[in-house]
Amino acid sequence: MFFELVRKANYDMRLDKLLSSLGYCSRREVRALLREGHVTVSGSSRLSPDMHVEPSSVSVDGEALDALPPIVLMLNKPAGHECSHAASGPSVYDCLPDRFRVRNPTLACVGRLDKDTTGLLLLTDDGELLHALTSPKKHVEKAYRVTLRDTLKGTEVALFASGNLLLDGEEKPLLPAVLLVLGEREAELVICEGRFHQVKRMFEACGNEVVSLHRARVGKLELGTLPEGEWRFLEPLEVELLRQPNQA
Ligand code: URA
Repeated sequence: MFFELVRKANYDMRLDKLLSSLGYCSRREVRALLREGHVTVSGSSRLSPDMHVEPSSVSVDGEALDALPPIVLMLNKPAGHECSHAASGPSVYDCLPDRFRVRNPTLACVGRLDKDTTGLLLLTDDGELLHALTSPKKHVEKAYRVTLRDTLKGTEVALFASGNLLLDGEEKPLLPAVLLVLGEREAELVICEGRFHQVKRMFEACGNEVVSLHRARVGKLELGTLPEGEWRFLEPLEVELLRQPNQA
């Protein structure tokens, strides 16, 4: 809301609020940050917390400020990391700059991947985009590369496409999903829902088990060649692509 107002009215922003909202420090710590000379505004370090500044004129330790909200980034999620701010062990936020954890508005995962799942994870502080990508009504496609414990039986393609598969403990069958067989124990699965452990439970329903799971695409956006554990901001055109409904 704060950044929304700033953008619309093209206001300058209070320096302490700007720095704390981007996670550089808390409002209380701003004075120390300024006193120690970490911050400059248009090259000057004679600053006060309540001064109003144009964000593009501010540097911290000689670097331009992080992008203002809204931001959207992709991470090639490594295995062993949880999609949670409150993880007891490694978290996907460990792959990002520390200050991204405390940005306001919050940088949230766009849907969750299991701890052992790798691949395309989007994070955003844009509530509207988050809703558009995760709402069950929107049917955004997600493509997964799956490795299985046992050889595929040959019946899975039709079962997943049928729209009749009922997962254990659920009352509503899954929407049709597309399975492309790539090898005896390898497949690509495209689903347009995001039910709890959906891919693993789909193969469990066939008596099989997923031994590795990697997400390669969300909507029209592919992970591409981003190395595991690395992240990058999306280009504006990529964000546009995400807003377009479905299919690669
Ligand atoms: N389905 C799963 O079972 N796990 C994931 O991480 C994503 C989809």
